[in-house]
Amino acid sequence: MTNVIYLDNNATTAVAPEVRQAMMPFLTELYGNPSSIHTFGGQVGAHVEEARAKLARLLGAHPSEILFTSCGTESDNAAIRSALASQPERHHLVTTRVEHPAVKNLCTYLAQPGPGKPKYRLTELGVDAQGRLDVGAFEAALDDDTAIASVMWANNETGTIFPIEKLGALCRARGILFHTDAVQAVGKVPINVAELPIDLLSLSGHKLHAPKGIGALYIRRGTRFSPLVIGGHQENSRRGGTEAVPLIVALGEAADLARKNMGEENTRVRALRDRIEKGLMATCPDARLNGDPAARLPNTSNISFEYVEGESILLMLDQFGICASSGSACTTGSLEPSHVLRAMGVPYTAAHGSIRFSFSVYNTDAEVDKVLEVLPPIIRRLREISPFGRQKAVQSER
Ligand SMILES: Cc1ncc(COP(=O)(O)O)c(C=O)c1O
Repeated sequence: MTNVIYLDNNATTAVAPEVRQAMMPFLTELYGNPSSIHTFGGQVGAHVEEARAKLARLLGAHPSEILFTSCGTESDNAAIRSALASQPERHHLVTTRVEHPAVKNLCTYLAQPGPGKPKYRLTELGVDAQGRLDVGAFEAALDDDTAIASVMWANNETGTIFPIEKLGALCRARGILFHTDAVQAVGKVPINVAELPIDLLSLSGHKLHAPKGIGALYIRRGTRFSPLVIGGHQENSRRGGTEAVPLIVALGEAADLARKNMGEENTRVRALRDRIEKGLMATCPDARLNGDPAARLPNTSNISFEYVEGESILLMLDQFGICASSGSACTTGSLEPSHVLRAMGVPYTAAHGSIRFSFSVYNTDAEVDKVLEVLPPIIRRLREISPFGRQKAVQSER
């Protein structure tokens, strides 16, 4: 598909040309197994370690603290399940209502009874109207039975950033493991785990211009770790399975690139995001911003256009090649607003019409201009044909 305006970078990102180039030799001539004794295989292992060092540098970690996984979901699962397996005497989990399903659904599963399955107690903390967590409520939820607290660094739908340092410090003071799902934060905001009270941190390659199928888990040195995937001695016996060498090399390169692009992400990308927001707020009545305007990822904007369906907006944007996401998912024929917007108490009429724009360094001013040109008439047109929108128009005429 040509001429796509891709504003859905929190869903996935384009593989960077530099990343594609870096991984190519490992899809062609350098196909050896890093565990092999022979030189041909062994030389590949050096590239795996180089990629580990590059990723560690992006996070402020030591290379030995990086475990490569298959995706963000696996990293989240490995972190939480390891905390439970290594502390069988503890049975309580603390998390939030706005986590990605990779954490949310795992915790819900763990809290359900089942034959031969230990049962865990789950505290899912709510958020306020801007998606913020109450630090006092978090502290109050921790107890001597808590095995792990897991709070995302930044929300994938709204971009709201959580006070990770404060939350981690509260856990550390009580000897409780702290995990953060940083899948949406890595590469977008500076992270230095050396200076933060974080024990476990999850990330995913395809959110930072590496291909799909690779993720990583940061495990602070000294943290007890119980493997999720049991097999061979790869990854220092913390994850069995022959290393996905091309993907690991790709993630290393993407980490280097993200470090170089961090400044641009927080200046030019942020400016694109701010311009789309300002422009749409000025031209579309009954539009509202979802998320914390003060603590938000620089690339994410979630806007509700009241009285219209997000899915209809997306379909009409699609006709112009514009890719974005909506805050509702079509399940069993009914459009359910996202659990994130529901947790924030966003009214149904607004939650249904929410659209997420998420930018990357590959977006341009011309693309923002195009959205600002085509979207306001789309909203007007949809409101004209929506019963709610018509009702609202009549009310405002009165
Ligand atoms: C916050 C967050 N956590 C976890 C994931 C899952 O990552 P993956 O798709 O690599 O499994 C995502 C993906 O959208 C995400 O946004």
